[in-house]
Amino acid sequence: MAIEQTLSIIKPDGVQNGHIGHVISIFEGAGLRIAAAKLVHLTAGQAGAFYAEHKERPFYGELVEYMTSGAVMLMVLEGEDAIAQNRKLMGATDPAQADEGTIRKLYAESKGKNTVHGSDSPASAAREVAFFFSAAFELV
Ligand code: CMP
Repeated sequence: MAIEQTLSIIKPDGVQNGHIGHVISIFEGAGLRIAAAKLVHLTAGQAGAFYAEHKERPFYGELVEYMTSGAVMLMVLEGEDAIAQNRKLMGATDPAQADEGTIRKLYAESKGKNTVHGSDSPASAAREVAFFFSAAFELV
């Protein structure tokens, strides 16, 4: 299987509720490596541009407001089949639909406050990693 990189975000609820350590240990326990990481407080411009594909959705305003409500942990995960592997570890967007043992089943409150984000395809992963990280300085 191919070695891939994917973007992971621990959202404001995950950071505020003290789940950074456990979420990272779930990723590392599954064989994913943290290739880059930073804790930041996004501006509305940054969150809006990151989620631009959802601009026409009814929840877009709420999503941007939520993603700027506190610090988020941005990470590049690297490993075999990392994009699908991360999606599996996260569980479904709606925590009510998430499988037992997934991060969202453990910690998410709702479709909006759903603790983590992960790129959903190779094209999204490439865009999302490049959106937040510079290959020249931050990927190790
Ligand atoms: P994420 O994986 O970050 O990608 C888009 C986000 O939009 C998603 O997780 C949710 O946080 C949010 N989202 C998707 N559907 C809804 C919804 N119906 N109501 C509120 N937020 C949503």
